[in-house]
Amino acid sequence: MTIQKFFPYINNKMFAEDVALSDIAEKVGTPFYCYSNTAISHNFQDYKQAFANQDTLICYAVKANGNQAVLSTLAKLGSGADVVSEGEIRRARAAGIEANKIVYSGVAKIESEIEYALNEGIFQFNVESEPELELISQVASRLNKTAAIAFRINPDVCANTHAKISTGKSENKFGVPISKARIAYKQAASLPNLKVQGVDVHIGSQLTQLAPFEEAYKRIAQLVAELRSDGHDISVVDIGGGLGITYSDENIPSKQAYAAIAQTQLGHLGCKIIVEPGRSLLGNAGVLVSSVVFVKTGEERQFLMLDAGMNDLIRPSMYDAHHEILAVDISAAPNQTKTYDVVGPVCETGDTFSKNRQVHQSKSGDLIAIMSCGAYGAVMASTYNTRMLAPEVMVKDDEFAVVRARLSYEEVINTDSVPSWV
Ligand code: LLP
Repeated sequence: MTIQKFFPYINNKMFAEDVALSDIAEKVGTPFYCYSNTAISHNFQDYKQAFANQDTLICYAVKANGNQAVLSTLAKLGSGADVVSEGEIRRARAAGIEANKIVYSGVAKIESEIEYALNEGIFQFNVESEPELELISQVASRLNKTAAIAFRINPDVCANTHAKISTGKSENKFGVPISKARIAYKQAASLPNLKVQGVDVHIGSQLTQLAPFEEAYKRIAQLVAELRSDGHDISVVDIGGGLGITYSDENIPSKQAYAAIAQTQLGHLGCKIIVEPGRSLLGNAGVLVSSVVFVKTGEERQFLMLDAGMNDLIRPSMYDAHHEILAVDISAAPNQTKTYDVVGPVCETGDTFSKNRQVHQSKSGDLIAIMSCGAYGAVMASTYNTRMLAPEVMVKDDEFAVVRARLSYEEVINTDSVPSWV
């Protein structure tokens, strides 16, 4: 299995590092998310090496997976954090990520969040609009603090990715249009309690080509030159996240090649580079393990009905995303596959992981691994249909630990309350 090398088959049984997934299933029940600590570290070190010859801060995009065990792992390796809410600042800080390594990229930051971020002393606000800039200046003035800012620039570049995760075209809601950037920076320089220090860009997620990054960085380099000639002291360029991963057969450029693009387009500026990877650190460091509840024979199709559903992993329903679906134990008949529609138990037709997929022939009770689920899996889960959130497990070598437990039905139901007048 090449996509996720830390989830190998050993004697025809899938492992996470040195732990059999079946052993974890026995302990915690299914469905559950399982992350490889070594894979996360390995991916982070890859980034570090790729950017070693540039003054770079890697700010992991917390939205991809905000589990404390994940964040602590990355904090210990020196990672900063790209956050989009007060909640994510709190998560990052709780896991030991230093405030001065946090960049705050929320799309519509509210006053209390700005205040929280200023009090923590974060490294930079990535400002999304002129009204947001004014609010940051007001809050900073009230607190007698200085907010270091960069504008997120919308460079009007097509990322060639799924429409729902493409962010750098002029019709998208993100950032300040590059055509208006100089005016926006002029305004920033005129407002109190702001320190204009950087330029930020993020054009989308799951990019499989380098050309869109190259085009965006070229436009940003040009802008930095213009801003400097306007008298702004630009010392930071945040190049966003977005390098894709292999879900099936995508050929993803290496992190070295990605870093080389940044170096070529931006290196001459002498700026600190911030990079905000999420998916490429976590995506292939995790799987979702589920059990087959029933194999159902419909009129036209065979359905593999799992105990994981769209509430656990929404990517296939939301983005038509492909995830490999593999039997955990293929020892009985290693090469015997069948065509199934792989579905969950939620009461919607959209609760389908894959149609017409060749999967190892399976029966009720068998374990199934949905691959490449470490990013945008658990974080996007919900309790829809009053199904409990899947627990999360982390493995390192031959050890594993539950890093988020399954809540009881009582705990979940008791978060509601009934007013006396009902
Ligand atoms: N920086 C900013 C400002 C972002 O908005 C994002 C992702 C990242 C960094 C990290 O991008 P990455 O390296 O992970 O591609 N839920 C979707 C993905 C949404 C991405 C949103 N922004 C999915 O499951 O495909």
